[in-house]
Amino acid sequence: MKSVILAGGSGTRLYPVTHVVNKHLLPIYNKPMIYYPLSLSMLIGIRETILVVNPQDVENFKRLLGDGSHLGMRIDYVFQERPRGLAEGLILTELYLKNQNCILYMLGDNIFFGHDLPKIMLSAKEEVRKEGGACVFAYYVHDPERFGVVEFDESGRVLSLEEKPKKPKSNYAVVGMYFYDSEVFEIAKSIKPSHRGELEITSVNEEYLKRGKLKAKLLGRGFAWFDAGTHESFLEAGEFVATIEKKTGLMIGCIEEIAYRNGWIDKEQLLKLAEPLKKTDYGKYLINLTKES
Ligand code: DAU
Repeated sequence: MKSVILAGGSGTRLYPVTHVVNKHLLPIYNKPMIYYPLSLSMLIGIRETILVVNPQDVENFKRLLGDGSHLGMRIDYVFQERPRGLAEGLILTELYLKNQNCILYMLGDNIFFGHDLPKIMLSAKEEVRKEGGACVFAYYVHDPERFGVVEFDESGRVLSLEEKPKKPKSNYAVVGMYFYDSEVFEIAKSIKPSHRGELEITSVNEEYLKRGKLKAKLLGRGFAWFDAGTHESFLEAGEFVATIEKKTGLMIGCIEEIAYRNGWIDKEQLLKLAEPLKKTDYGKYLINLTKES
């Protein structure tokens, strides 16, 4: 299985911070934002990831993540010339993903935390792999008009989806993590741009709903989700990560740790990756991992 992480867009909601630096390279506490979605994808065992990036930012992403081989992974880069919407990322990556029966599609500015999250993701993956269709995740929010919104009936069946509705039908936001079968490319190519001129991911999900092939899973209490695309939520996400890491002594989104625990890199490689970071708590954390029995 492969994943796609969207790290393009214009980041206008974070201006002036993102005038010259791509949003996904900014720090959420002690690591670049892109580490968080990448680490989740790694946590469910995905070793091949495609990053959708703006052409002007690709060199910076490559300096940070290279081709992924230092993590025992493969990372490819696909250009999105202009931010024409989240669904365009699917069209752009079709060549890489055609033969996959299940794809994990993630938004690069979404940050998740929750003990059983990989378990829930793996069950969604299995369902899509076996039965086809798509699976989205819903999270209760106080400001649903900022997001894609999903409406359920009492049995949990999805009734409707709307992108940033003025009058939301529920308080459940659709978060930036989606599992799709291979029909997604045909669907993404068939949808029309929205009134804001973008190919919306919600239109793709609506088509799955129309075909009776959309599932939604609830991320309930015990999960934290941030769309770090505004100054406020960006700060909130950083503060959250700092608090959890200080309290637990464990890192969230540490890609080197996950590669090591997954057995994709050995102790020697982990120490090599820690070497340039050794003056930081991040580097010390990596070195300590090699001392665990
Ligand atoms: O965060 C969850 C929400 O994300 C969903 O509830 C919405 O349904 C979905 O449309 C999306 O809404 P946003 O307005 O938050 O999307 P945003 O423009 O911030 O883009 C999300 C990520 O995708 C961000 O990391 C930038 C990247 N992106 C965005 C666009 C428009 C691209 O890589 N290419 C693009 O063309």
